[in-house]
Amino acid sequence: MVKIKPNIYWVGGVDWNLRNFHGYTTEEGSSYNSYLITDEKVVLIDTVKDYLYDEMIDRISRIIDPSKIDIIISNHVEMDHSGVLPKIAEVAKNAKLYASPQGVIGLKEHFPDLREITPCEEGAKLNIGKYNLTFHLAKMLHWPDNMAVYLEEERILFSNDAFGQHIASSVRFDDEFSEDMLFRQAMKYYANIVQCYNAQVLNFAKTAIIPNEIDMICPSHGIIYRKYVKEIISKYIEWANNTVKNKAVIVYDTMWQSTEILAKQLQYALEENGIEALLRNLEYSHISDIMTDVLDASLVAVGSPTLNNNMLPTVSAFLCYLKGLAPSERMGFAFGSYGWGGQGTGFVNEALKSLNKWDIPIEPVKVRYIPNKEDLLNMHKTGESLAEIIKKSK
Ligand code: FEO
Repeated sequence: MVKIKPNIYWVGGVDWNLRNFHGYTTEEGSSYNSYLITDEKVVLIDTVKDYLYDEMIDRISRIIDPSKIDIIISNHVEMDHSGVLPKIAEVAKNAKLYASPQGVIGLKEHFPDLREITPCEEGAKLNIGKYNLTFHLAKMLHWPDNMAVYLEEERILFSNDAFGQHIASSVRFDDEFSEDMLFRQAMKYYANIVQCYNAQVLNFAKTAIIPNEIDMICPSHGIIYRKYVKEIISKYIEWANNTVKNKAVIVYDTMWQSTEILAKQLQYALEENGIEALLRNLEYSHISDIMTDVLDASLVAVGSPTLNNNMLPTVSAFLCYLKGLAPSERMGFAFGSYGWGGQGTGFVNEALKSLNKWDIPIEPVKVRYIPNKEDLLNMHKTGESLAEIIKKSK
């Protein structure tokens, strides 16, 4: 266990081997953070995934007899945090259970034999001795039931999934960990889990973040913030407000390198004209990493050859994932190569047009077989035009 304040402890589990979370690659593993508060009442906030129960119970046992837990707060129904709730509730037989109103419904549907759970409304308070807890609903961050708990006297926000990062580590605090890796993983987490709920992030900021003085954010995944609290809050507000840079992401797959040649020509033109341009071949880059790149990009250019009268399946999978995460108010551009039918580029263009408030300022560029000098010049000029449009849009 790790003492985070004189009578507040991290008692979670570290998932060193996790490499995939619902299709999102977790190259740094993850952790499921549970917290124990030993006030007049002993409170456990959240639990862990089922296979880490022993780890959690061992950590709790180093502090108190787990049967002495008086209150268990379940901030989220998803089983990475509620997985062993029935088991710990069985050990702590007299503990009172708390969850959000949606959490009560969801937990009962996951674990029908669980005893009565008290619903917590927005702003409800619970005194546990010298400490006072306030419940804040974090609806759709990222499930309807998510909730956060604010501990007034220590100015700690137990934020559950909000502010998480998928990181397994042997240290718990931001000042003990690589700053670059922390923010990259926080950004990846936002891009792949939170992004489609930007409006809810801003609501949560109004109710749970801005009105409270926060010295520490204890999320349910990864590293605890105590040094970079202001920085991560300001990043969340920036991301939720759809703030983009002079940046383009060129995403493509290729069969005989013709689409790749076009992608590179576009990248040169954008870069030469002052736009940061990232080249992402879907054969080598995972869609969850590409979404991290997209989070603050103005332009997403997508290229595909035509295969079987359509785009390549890898490109289709990316566009499906992109649509689900719903970044809005970006610019799109479609390009690609073909041999005879040439339908792939048109389908990519249609998919980009279907995204929320996306602008497609330039018609798709498609090239038969292998790009010649004229094709490359044309692509270069297209890149120059896109660079100008990006700069003017700022
Ligand atoms: Fe929505 Fe970390 O679970």
